[in-house]
Amino acid sequence: LASIDVDVSALEPGMSLTVKWRGKPVFIRNRTEKEVEDAKSVPMAELKDPVSRNANLAADATASDLDRSAGEGKENWIVMIGSCTHLGCVPLGQSGEYGGWFCPCHGSVYDTAGRIRKGPAPENLHIPTYAFTSDTVIRIG
Ligand code: FES
Repeated sequence: LASIDVDVSALEPGMSLTVKWRGKPVFIRNRTEKEVEDAKSVPMAELKDPVSRNANLAADATASDLDRSAGEGKENWIVMIGSCTHLGCVPLGQSGEYGGWFCPCHGSVYDTAGRIRKGPAPENLHIPTYAFTSDTVIRIG
């Protein structure tokens, strides 16, 4: 299926954008330094789902903040499919006790790296195939 190009030049730190790709919402967030630091400070042993769920990395890549983000030098960017890994509701951004995403359907709580921290969802929010084609354009798919 087709890929889409998204211009993220207007997204200052702390701003997000939701686009539609393959019929699903995709969350793009330019995280603040604090959000990145919060995610980095979480011990891996505390994570319910220890793997990255990042389609751009090997299946066994860990759920470190770096491997959940757009990578070295672009750790502020996070791109995720906006579909709760429990039963597919769309989580709300910048909510929940970890300041990440909160699913109103059954109360799953994701952190600022989109990792599942509480509630019934079994996996971190999934990260689609994507790449920056320039400093300000992300190609999803
Ligand atoms: Fe999100 Fe159930 S669908 S918690």
